[in-house]
Amino acid sequence: MPIDLTVVVPTYNERENVAPLVGLLDKALEGVAWEVLFVDDDSPDGTADAVRELASRDVRVRCLQRIGRRGLSSACIEGIMASAAPYVAVMDADLQHDESVLPGMLEKLRTDAADVVVGSRYMGGGSTGELASGRVWISRVASALGQLVLKARVSDPMSGFFMLQRVYFDRVAHDLSGKGFKILLDLLASGRRDVRVAELPYHMRARQHGDSKLDTMVVWEYLVLIADKLFGRYVPVRFVLFVGVGMTGVAVHLLVLGLLHRLLAVDFLVAQASATLFAMTSNYFLNNVFTYHDQRLYGAALVRGLATFYLACSIGAVISVEFATFLFERSFPWFMAGFFGAIAGAVWNYAVTATFTWRATRPKSVAGK
Ligand code: GDD
Ligand code: MN
Repeated sequence: MPIDLTVVVPTYNERENVAPLVGLLDKALEGVAWEVLFVDDDSPDGTADAVRELASRDVRVRCLQRIGRRGLSSACIEGIMASAAPYVAVMDADLQHDESVLPGMLEKLRTDAADVVVGSRYMGGGSTGELASGRVWISRVASALGQLVLKARVSDPMSGFFMLQRVYFDRVAHDLSGKGFKILLDLLASGRRDVRVAELPYHMRARQHGDSKLDTMVVWEYLVLIADKLFGRYVPVRFVLFVGVGMTGVAVHLLVLGLLHRLLAVDFLVAQASATLFAMTSNYFLNNVFTYHDQRLYGAALVRGLATFYLACSIGAVISVEFATFLFERSFPWFMAGFFGAIAGAVWNYAVTATFTWRATRPKSVAGK
């Protein structure tokens, strides 16, 4: 019998949860030709082994293990890609999402009443259960912000629980940003045409085993995703962040220079050199946390990265000065010469550090969280 529904479940350290979840799906999806695909990012607790153990006894269970990768959105996307079913659901592994809503979602898709059906905590009949009030508040603000880029009204665009038509996914697949946690928002904001969304309420349950992988940086990732959807087509968000960090560097530079030269009467040349070093160092760490949050360097890679960053930026400074002088000598006004010089330096620094400091695939630097 061909499979009608694939349930994609991203996992990271969910060993204890996979077997109970399969049991619940088995009960809830009686009469449906379903499979469950766990997409595991090489969890240190051996989640993938637990899944394969189940899979060896039950053909409806599959495991996609990714090595050297992290990311909830990209895990969901790759799980959906690996399914041949006409309908695909995404849900947490931790039993927080109510599987008994799945048949209702499937019904809406089968009757073609919607492209996407969202499990909502914020409509009548739904609730956030025991979710901490701080989390609820953040979730609500984020939902309101999300409306900026959404092409449909949704009460719970932050939901990690939804089902969609495969044909809808194929329509938006090439426009997904795949960053961060907010896969649903990404899916809903990426279509060129309006998307037909239906919502079904559910009561969120408390996590049974393990911990939430959401941390405060999730909020940051979310803002980056919104920015990407708003203007990413015109300027890469990463470049904008890089330039933003560069501006904080200017402030750091002037602060240190003033402190050393004016307050401590350090020789100007020495003060200027120290300020440059200070600003470069703070730029490096800020870029590592904010601009390259998803490719963050740790340990030895962090030290190596600092060295290449210093080197790249030193050359960038020379380029900036040379280019500004070149323009100035060709009768550009000082501020324009200075501005274009700074942009030239920034483009150089950005391009070179993107390649040598934060290389796109760097399995060893993946956070071991
Ligand atoms: N493969 C993979 N890689 N899976 C991950 C990763 C990762 O980097 N990070 C988290 N997961 C898995 C978890 O194991 C879990 O099954 C699911 O993704 C959601 O992570 P949780 O840690 O349970 O997040 P949460 O419960 O705090 O938030 C979830 O529910 C919210 C409400 O529905 C997320 O789905 C949010 O997006 C959602 O808003
Ligand atoms: Mn969860």
